[in-house]
Amino acid sequence: DTGRRQRLLDAHKIAAEFYRDQLLTQEAATARAFLQERGFDRAAAEHFGVGYAPQGWDGLLKHLTSRGFTLDELKLTGMFSTSSTNAGRFYDRFRGRLMWPIRDITGDTVGFGARKLYEDDQGPKYLNTPETTLYKKSQVLYGIDLAKREIAKSRQLVVVEGYTDVMACHLAGVGTAVATCGTAFGADHIKIARRLLSDDGTGGEVIFTFDGDAAGQKAALRAFEEDQRFNAQTYVAVGVGGADPCELRQTAGDQAVQDLISTRRPLFEFAIKASFDQFDLSTGEGQMKALRHAAPIVANIRDVSLRSVYTRELSRWLGMQFVGEDQVAQAVAS
Ligand code: GTP
Ligand code: MN
Ligand code: MN
Ligand code: MN
Ligand code: MN
Repeated sequence: DTGRRQRLLDAHKIAAEFYRDQLLTQEAATARAFLQERGFDRAAAEHFGVGYAPQGWDGLLKHLTSRGFTLDELKLTGMFSTSSTNAGRFYDRFRGRLMWPIRDITGDTVGFGARKLYEDDQGPKYLNTPETTLYKKSQVLYGIDLAKREIAKSRQLVVVEGYTDVMACHLAGVGTAVATCGTAFGADHIKIARRLLSDDGTGGEVIFTFDGDAAGQKAALRAFEEDQRFNAQTYVAVGVGGADPCELRQTAGDQAVQDLISTRRPLFEFAIKASFDQFDLSTGEGQMKALRHAAPIVANIRDVSLRSVYTRELSRWLGMQFVGEDQVAQAVAS
C-alpha cells in the first residue's frame, strides 16, 4: 500500500544521506581517493549522490533504528542481511563500499549499487540491492532521473555498462547516458526507452557502449537479439583499445568520450562482423557459410535503403564477387 511504500522511500532517502555524510569521514579516505583517481571531484560526487558505507556491521542499522524504523520495515528495504549462523543476527548488507543511490525516473532512491574498495574484501566487485517491492533490476536504469530530459530532447539514448561510465558520460557532455544495474538491457528497459525517445514509440537512436572484452561482445550480441523490439536505430560504440567511457575520460579527456559516441556503428554491422569470426573466409565454402549466417541479419534491416547498402557491404566484407538482394534472400531460405 502507499503508506508502506512511502516508509520504504523514506528509509532509502535517509540511507542515501547517511552514506553521503559518511564519505566525509576519515575512514572514507580510500573511497575519496578512488573517486579522485577516476576523475570525479566533490561536485560530481554530490551531483550523483555518491556515498560510502562504513566497514562496521551496524552503522546504517543503528541510524535507521534511531530514526524510528522497525525491523519489519528494515527487512523490506534489502539494505540488511540476516546471519544464518549467528541466531538470525541482522546486519548492514553494504560495508566498506562506495555507494551509488539508484533512483527511479522521478528521482526517488529505490536501491543502491555498491563497489568494493579494499583488497581483502572477498565479496564481488559490485553488490546491488536485491529484488524488493521498490527495486526491480529488470526495470531500473541508473541515471535515468538525470538523463530523461536530454533523452527526450535529443531523441538519443546511450546505454553504458556501469555507474562510473554514466558519471563520466554526463560530465563529458553526454547527458543521455544510463546503465543497467548488473543485468542485461532487457524487454522492460526497451519499453522505458521507447516511451522516452518519442511519444509514439518510433524513431530516435539507441547507442550501446560496451567494454572491448568478451563480456562486452556478448552483451552487444545479446542487445542485437532484442533489436527488433526497438523502433529506433540501434548502434554500438566501442572505445579505443576496448576502454569504457570512464577509462576513456580518465586517459584522454571529455572529447574522447564525445568522439566515442559519434563514431558509433550500426548494431547489425557489429553483429554481422562478429559472426564472421567463426568462419574461414579464405575459402569459398567459408564465405558461403558466413553469407548464410549473415543473410538473415541483413534481411531484417528495417530501413530499405540501408538494407541495400549493407547487402553490398556484405560482399565486400566477405571478399566475394557480388552479393545481391536475391542471393541474400536465397541464403535466408536455404
Ligand atoms: P570498474 O573497475 O568499477 O570501472 O568496473 P569495470 O569497468 O571493470 O566493470 P564492468 O564494466 O565489468 O562492470 C560495470 C557494471 O557491471 C557495474 O557498474 C555493475 O553494475 C556491473 N557489475 C560488474 N561486476 C559485477 C558483479 O560482480 N556483480 C554485480 N551484481 N554486478 C556487476
Ligand atoms: Mn568487470
Ligand atoms: Mn567489463
Ligand atoms: Mn567497464
Ligand atoms: Mn570501468
